[in-house]
Amino acid sequence: ENRNDSNVNKKQEQLDQFKVDDHGKKMTTNQGLKVSEDEFSLKAGVRGPTLMEDFHFREKMTHFDHERIPERVVHARGFAAHGEFQVYESMKEFTMAKFLNDPSKKTPVFVRFSTVQGSRGSAETVRDVRGFATKFYTEEGNYDLVGNNMPVFFIQDAIKFPDLIHAVKPEPHNEMPQGASAHDTFYDFVANNQESAHMVMWQMSDRAIPRSFRMMEGFGVHTFRFVNEQGKAHFVKFHWKPVLGVHSLVWDEAQKISGKDPDFHRRDLYESIESGQYPEFELGVQLIPEEEEFRFDFDILDPTKLWPEEEVPVKIIGKMTLNRNVDNVFAETEQVAFHPGHVVPGIDFTNDPLLQGRLFSYTDTQLLRLGGPNFHELPINRPVCPFHNNQRDGFGRQTINIGQVNYHKNSLAQNTPEPAAPEEGGYVHYQEKVDGRKIQARSDSFKDHFSQATMFWNSMTPPEKQHIIDALTFELGKVKSPDVRQQVVDMFANVSMELVTPVAEGIGARVPEPREPASTKSSPALSMANTVKTPRT
Ligand code: HEM
Repeated sequence: ENRNDSNVNKKQEQLDQFKVDDHGKKMTTNQGLKVSEDEFSLKAGVRGPTLMEDFHFREKMTHFDHERIPERVVHARGFAAHGEFQVYESMKEFTMAKFLNDPSKKTPVFVRFSTVQGSRGSAETVRDVRGFATKFYTEEGNYDLVGNNMPVFFIQDAIKFPDLIHAVKPEPHNEMPQGASAHDTFYDFVANNQESAHMVMWQMSDRAIPRSFRMMEGFGVHTFRFVNEQGKAHFVKFHWKPVLGVHSLVWDEAQKISGKDPDFHRRDLYESIESGQYPEFELGVQLIPEEEEFRFDFDILDPTKLWPEEEVPVKIIGKMTLNRNVDNVFAETEQVAFHPGHVVPGIDFTNDPLLQGRLFSYTDTQLLRLGGPNFHELPINRPVCPFHNNQRDGFGRQTINIGQVNYHKNSLAQNTPEPAAPEEGGYVHYQEKVDGRKIQARSDSFKDHFSQATMFWNSMTPPEKQHIIDALTFELGKVKSPDVRQQVVDMFANVSMELVTPVAEGIGARVPEPREPASTKSSPALSMANTVKTPRT
């Protein structure tokens, strides 16, 4: 077996240790006692009441009663697979991340695709953003790239995320609609938080109804930082490019499939892997040297902006292949815990205020969703490298830490965990200079909400434009409040009159006064007609 395979197999072997095959075994209680009866409870007389002392009945029922855990507060409906990742060439010039430095190294990965809005049982071909979360089990610890299939986001600051999600989720008084964004509270939020304009354009486009998880792009969205061994930094944006190209359903198909096969996307992914048609995605990066932070006509830290690929080319650096389905959806797909703050040396954060808030949110929600602070011990979440610290105890703790001393800086014990020096792989936060007053406000450089929304529109082919017009007409047609409809129509007049005029006419709203388009730019790479379709060999 060569070095590559042993690397990839590390995660597989780790998971294998936890697998239990119940086939052909005698039934026992959780204490290992063999059970003789699993059909009839213990009763006082054959027609009498069930007795408390029937421990097997009690244990079986209690476990069943406790089977459910909370679904994710967003991205509840998801499906995942295992695979591997390999760089084409060393990225040492830009980052010291070891898994990006050695083209002979394969890194095991686990990827979960998801919708955002619907609950765990909702249909999959709805109009929505798709999550695209990748966990790299590297030798330096887990690195999570927790992205979406669209490169921008609805809001600029994490403090608004609870508002956004309250507005997009089913309305609280009647729990409608399931799995869809077409309703009053969502569009009311959009019209009153106009930084959402660019993202809503993507959401109305064909990108929001993918043909398959295998045929979507993925984006890290935020601007991250690459840091090399010399301490030199680049701003970086991450891209996944599907080798099969980007393909979507048309709305009519998507709606029919929702009814006929709500599992359409997971079935497609599962079956393609089972039949050996392994989904492949190339990893790309856009890089901006630290000195060029202010070279652009947008703020590179604003998550409602993308970096046009014509201005900052996407460098393709590696490939991921998904080649193994999970054995157990609950144990793996449901219990996996992604976090944009799981980084390795060579990858760091920026001051993007959306990213900053995400760094808090994920662990916080997982403490509830996965029942306490020990979810890193769950098989799917364990890194393939060892982990050692003085964190102890908590519900469900599995590790048996030995020794008297469980605190740092002590004289009683030798060899308790010591922080690692940078040359030993210790993570050092990038020493960015910050200087300013504490203030709660939006930066002036974050105040242009329409230029890139218009650029997106300008980049579409005529059929793509027609699909966006049809989508917005359909969506606003479901909004009951005429006032909210009109506000949204007025808002999108800032994007394009060509878009908003047929929409207003289609839903019986007033056509707004003509306005100058917010931008004359276009970025051809944004059209699905121009997405990468051929892999590098
Ligand atoms: C899931 C929060 C923005 C991608 C989640 C979860 C939370 C959350 C609480 C559930 C996690 C869990 O239960 O394990 C937030 C907050 C955001 C934000 C507070 C903004 C302030 C984003 C953005 C992206 C994104 C911009 C894309 C770049 C995802 C994905 C998942 C997720 C893919 C599902 C992960 C999985 O499959 O388990 N988010 N999110 N989120 N989020 Fe975010």
